[in-house]
Amino acid sequence: MTAVTAIAHPNIALAKYWGKRAGTRDVPAVPSLSVTLGGLATRTTVTVEPGYSADELWLGGQLTTGDSAARATAWLAELRARAGSPHFARVQSQNDFPTASGLASSASGFAALAVAAAAAYGLDLDRAELAALAQRGSTSAARSLFSGFAELVPGEPARQVAAPDHLPLVVLVCVTTEAAKEMSSRAAMAQTITHSPYYESWVRFAEGNFAAQRAALLARDWETLGAALEASAFAMHASAMAAGIVYFNDVTLRLAARVRALRTEGVSVWASMDAGPHVKVFTRSQDASVAQRALESVPGVLRVIAATPGPGAMRV
Ligand code: DP6
Repeated sequence: MTAVTAIAHPNIALAKYWGKRAGTRDVPAVPSLSVTLGGLATRTTVTVEPGYSADELWLGGQLTTGDSAARATAWLAELRARAGSPHFARVQSQNDFPTASGLASSASGFAALAVAAAAAYGLDLDRAELAALAQRGSTSAARSLFSGFAELVPGEPARQVAAPDHLPLVVLVCVTTEAAKEMSSRAAMAQTITHSPYYESWVRFAEGNFAAQRAALLARDWETLGAALEASAFAMHASAMAAGIVYFNDVTLRLAARVRALRTEGVSVWASMDAGPHVKVFTRSQDASVAQRALESVPGVLRVIAATPGPGAMRV
């Protein structure tokens, strides 16, 4: 019996990925740039045992069936074939943050799973190979292999762009509902590709936006980076909305308005939203407490979690 445990952290995209390259399962159509968040963690143990008769996925202490289990099992079958092992695995995974908090639990989930399962099946892989493995499960998971800021360019291995201490960044995650999201990002991006009249424009926009953000990040140019990361989120959502996919709720819009108002008051804050109604507010550490208090007072906000750039996925 072999048991290996790994820890990974969620990542939030500053330059969003939305849409896969035609005919692929895990190659993004556009480049993305993200920050891996410390503090919040997924801890996963993979046990490989000749006696198991099937793979088992336990999330938060519950044996899981349905879509998440099917996705993990298909991923494990590929890994087993690569490792040349006939043995099934038990996967036990725990998030120390609420899964409905809108933080990308599939990203930290597949990043932790890749590190733990590769080792449990005896594969000695470098970080880029582990990222590619995580990407087979969930595209954005590739970025959680890296500490600090990471990029994922179509057709290339994910890699680090800057270390966690490159910028004194705080991400304020404003939770607007406890409900699980209505539509998976996988299904929603497929629908955007087939139904949105704006999808092609999104892809063209995303290329230039990514390059601008990458340069601004490296130059520590907060204003350019902030404006461009907010533009990325709104452009992604606009293309999805044109296909009938609306992730925003009333609190999302109220938060977006509050962020705009705070900026006119001189507070450096920029909003970003993913496949859910929560708002991630990017700010500088010197503005974080003022911004957090202001966001907490927006009606409908359930809580605000403050996170800073953190480490990549690792074995423990
Ligand atoms: C809005 O990586 O979760 O968070 O590749 O189908 O697993 P799959 O989708 P996923 O999509 C993430 C979309 C996003 C933007 C981003 O993280 O870049």
